[in-house]
Amino acid sequence: MFETLKNPPPDSLLALIKAFADDPRAGKIDLGVGVYRDDSGATPIMQAVKDAERILFEAQDTKSYLGPEGDMRFVAALQPLVFDKSTSHVTGIQTPGGSGALRLGAELITAARPGARVWVGTPTWPNHGPVFQSGGLTVCRYRFFDTKTQTILFDEMMAALSGAAQGDVVLLHGCCHNPTGADLDLDQWREVADLIARRGLFPFIDLAYQGLGRGLDEDVAGLRLVLDATDEALVAYSCDKNFALYRDRTGALFAQARTAAHAGAVFGSLAGLARVNWSMPPDHGAALVRIVLESPDLTRSWREELVSMCARIGDVRRALATLEPQLAFLDRQRGLFSNLALAPEQIDALRTRHAIYMAPSGRANLAGMRASDAGKFVAALADVGGLERAKAAVIAP
Ligand code: LMR
Repeated sequence: MFETLKNPPPDSLLALIKAFADDPRAGKIDLGVGVYRDDSGATPIMQAVKDAERILFEAQDTKSYLGPEGDMRFVAALQPLVFDKSTSHVTGIQTPGGSGALRLGAELITAARPGARVWVGTPTWPNHGPVFQSGGLTVCRYRFFDTKTQTILFDEMMAALSGAAQGDVVLLHGCCHNPTGADLDLDQWREVADLIARRGLFPFIDLAYQGLGRGLDEDVAGLRLVLDATDEALVAYSCDKNFALYRDRTGALFAQARTAAHAGAVFGSLAGLARVNWSMPPDHGAALVRIVLESPDLTRSWREELVSMCARIGDVRRALATLEPQLAFLDRQRGLFSNLALAPEQIDALRTRHAIYMAPSGRANLAGMRASDAGKFVAALADVGGLERAKAAVIAP
């Protein structure tokens, strides 16, 4: 049986976790996998989540099955963070993280429209393509961002989407674009929303960093324009980063449908697809998010901590931009990541000479950096010749 299998190359992002852990050098800097760290380099459990764990420990009296849809109180508590109260025919189910939501969404689309195409701007999260392909979609790519000038290629995006066929799926990053940190502004969101409505495209929004860009509401302002403009959409939600629940795999897939009957059919289909994938999602993280969001006190605590995490990322971005004018673009971008225009040899040299780890694409997880490491990082970039390429970005508008 197994003789036909080839060992696939390791996932480049996940390989960094091990390589960094194995590096004995003091002062090493991990800008690899997308995990928030505080200024001491730790990824703490949020206080509201810790408090919810205590409550759960005391109150939970069974671990019996909930069903393929998971914890529907969790789904209901999360929904208003994304959707306006006025949006009708919204349904959703709990998923194992945002990746589970993306995969389930792809399978739902394939069930509804076999052979559907999804338009994905590049660069994007390296797992988007493989997840969509595994879910049965045909992935069409267009250029979204130029790392040399650090600018969104909005005209190319609009041209590509103008060529999409009615019913084609459009992947949109809700906020904190992964890997570039470059989000559409509201005027651009409005143009994209109009185009989607005009051409009958189907938006699939990946929302994995709400609250870590500009704020909880600001981070969904753009995607709400799309949801307003169209009557059908999917939103893949991840609580990994904004509740710091990473390994607890906590997410949801929401669908906006045209009618209540459609929403009912979507819900049933999603539950059926979940059943044949993981049967039922892991409960712990969703129970914690539910407890936090159903408690005004814990919600306040969570929001405050999220604001301080977001502010720390902003501080790191500002520190780097201030130290090195060639990196000024970092302060215009949002969220965990920026995609530096570095050659593979420069990324290798950062690792071997300076113990600085980043993805082979040049993506840097700035939320992994201590503000006090900013000077060291800029000096290391200069040492490997990584600032020469950033010059082009300074003159870009
Ligand atoms: C990342 O982009 O680093 C994270 O979303 C982790 C992952 O699963 O790739």
